[in-house]
Amino acid sequence: MSRKILVTSALPYANGSIHLGHLVEYIQTDIWVRFQKMQGHTCHYVCADDTHGTPIMLRAEKEGITPEELIARVWQEHYDDFKAFHVEFDHYGSTNSKATQVFSNTIYGKLKTAGLIAQRSIEQFYDPLKQMFLPDRFIKGECPKCGANDQYGDNCEVCGAAYTPAEVKNPYSAVSGAKPEMRESVHYFFKLSDPSCQKFLQDWTTGKLTKEPPLQAEAANKMQEWLGEAGDNKLTDWDISRDAPYFGFEIPDATGKYFYVWLDAPVGYMGSFQALCEKESLSFDEYWKVGSKTELYHFIGKDILYFHALFWPAMLQHAGYRTPTKLFAHGFLTVNGEKMSKSRGTFITAKSYIDAGLNPEYLRYYYATKLNGSMEDIDLNLEDFVAKVNSDLIGKYVNIASRASGFIHRLYDGEIARKETQRDFATWDATSILHEARSGNTNSLPTLLGLLRGDAKEIALSYEFRDYGKAIRRIMERADLVNKVYDAFKPWEAAKTNKNLAGEICVASLEAFRLLTIYLSPVLPKLAGNAFEFLNLPKQNWPDVNSQLRLGHKINEYKHLMTRLDPKQIEAMVVANQENLKPMPETHSPTRHTEAQQHAITPIADTISIDDFSKIDLRVAKIINAEHVEGAEKLLKLTLDIGEEKPRTVFAGIKSAYDPAKLIGRMTVMVANLAPRKMKFGMSEGMVLAASGDAPGLFILSPDDGAQAGMKVK
Ligand code: 2FM
Ligand code: ZN
Repeated sequence: MSRKILVTSALPYANGSIHLGHLVEYIQTDIWVRFQKMQGHTCHYVCADDTHGTPIMLRAEKEGITPEELIARVWQEHYDDFKAFHVEFDHYGSTNSKATQVFSNTIYGKLKTAGLIAQRSIEQFYDPLKQMFLPDRFIKGECPKCGANDQYGDNCEVCGAAYTPAEVKNPYSAVSGAKPEMRESVHYFFKLSDPSCQKFLQDWTTGKLTKEPPLQAEAANKMQEWLGEAGDNKLTDWDISRDAPYFGFEIPDATGKYFYVWLDAPVGYMGSFQALCEKESLSFDEYWKVGSKTELYHFIGKDILYFHALFWPAMLQHAGYRTPTKLFAHGFLTVNGEKMSKSRGTFITAKSYIDAGLNPEYLRYYYATKLNGSMEDIDLNLEDFVAKVNSDLIGKYVNIASRASGFIHRLYDGEIARKETQRDFATWDATSILHEARSGNTNSLPTLLGLLRGDAKEIALSYEFRDYGKAIRRIMERADLVNKVYDAFKPWEAAKTNKNLAGEICVASLEAFRLLTIYLSPVLPKLAGNAFEFLNLPKQNWPDVNSQLRLGHKINEYKHLMTRLDPKQIEAMVVANQENLKPMPETHSPTRHTEAQQHAITPIADTISIDDFSKIDLRVAKIINAEHVEGAEKLLKLTLDIGEEKPRTVFAGIKSAYDPAKLIGRMTVMVANLAPRKMKFGMSEGMVLAASGDAPGLFILSPDDGAQAGMKVK
């Protein structure tokens, strides 16, 4: 039965580039959508840029452009990145659209009519310099639990504590550095604490309202934690307004108040779909009205489950729209087993991947092998990536076409000259097929094809349940078998003595290749397109599994379908991502960039804030004594005056570069607040700064003439 399906991926924020972490979601959604379309279902895939909020407003200001200009530029970048990875939306919009605004207003109006909007005055930090209220993330200060410096206003990255900005000690504005003031302001709330909301969410998240549970088991458990048991009333009201200045939609009946970005972000799904309806004359109501017979799926990261499993269905339900059929939450991406890191070059942007000349389908394939429909994180191990792509895609799948096509052209001028015999050997499994092939039994060939056709259902189920890893394992197992059967018949020998046999083997191999291509199409759309072109066939869909290459059909000349993944390309990409961290003037020309690559320097470390930097207390120090240390190979013992009562002793590893006598009397720079370190030769009470590179040489720093001992370096 043909289904009508609407699918979304989370809307990426318009304040950053698409990276390989984002792509885990878009690629997995795209695979699913392509699979559904191949099944003959009506499936629409919409997404949009998420464009509102304080960060976007501030970034535009910093760049000296309007938020509209900023989001237009980022939209194009995002759009191009997705396209490069063959992520094919039916519509890619923007939340900064009339349609999204109208839906946001409608939803708000309906919630208000239902008595679910409350107004309350709240106290919030205000930046007197910037004249704006500060979101929690823009307050920094000391963690109220562990005292760590420079923590965000909502949680501590050192001890993991969560708190309110009011609890932060010595708070300051991350926007201007000013000391924030507490000010009152009226905010609008969505009354999630209302018993009707709590009851609805209890029922919805536990699957009482739908044919099938809308959440994965792990997600449902999480919800249980957040919601508690029926009657627990654990939810608090959700603050949906923000004060001007703000980049977003003004609340209709509240001048100077704006919808919080998270209110209009999911509404962007509707706005984007509305645009598609206009483009393709579809009925919006058919997909969004209560009682809709269509299916609605949201692919999301596990970090935004809260918004999608609580706020979003509650908004829809109480505004009179249908709720999602299912949420598909996935985990995060790690690279080489670790969080993506800028300094390691593993924070890889989509653009840098493409710029390194890497085929986007390598990544689509690798992700597919790793995805299993769960919320577990997936790891991109760069070595394994190279190995898997080369051994599976090139060594197994593409290999079938490249080796079989030669004989078909040489012996039959590219014509399918042998008819596939229809035999029913359904009881033969892979092992018996290979065994029979090795005994020269050609019945193994139609049986092999029967086996491959029989896989269609199971592979389809794996795709349907987003267990792409399972689908790929089966497909590659079969590709391997096809190669082994081919080898068993040695067509290169048969071509000399038994043309018919060689033809039969090669035709069967090409038919197997056709079937495998159908199965791989959702993952590798471009490669599949080229493969069908080589087979001289139109795009094949799932039901085409039951057809076959016809007698007399002519295939095209074989052209390289995919090149091997060269590990050097990966290295270059990683380096490029480290290079990106180097401060580069906005207007740098390509020539300068090339120069920078030629004189590669040690990668710049992760960016730190000025506040991080100011934790280091650097002082001008006068070297009042310097001497060798008995038994120490590298150290000199320095006595440093930084204007304190007692001079400091510092052991510095600079013996190879300096004669101690020549150091006495010189000025240098030291870290004065480094914890004292007990060394074999005594206590070291700080550190002097010295420059070094790959080449030999060590150079201690000296301040300019006039600097006095004890002066702060900042
Ligand atoms: O987390 C994010 O990046 C959000 N921009 C996702 C929004 S998804 C949907 F609600 F719009
Ligand atoms: Zn802490």
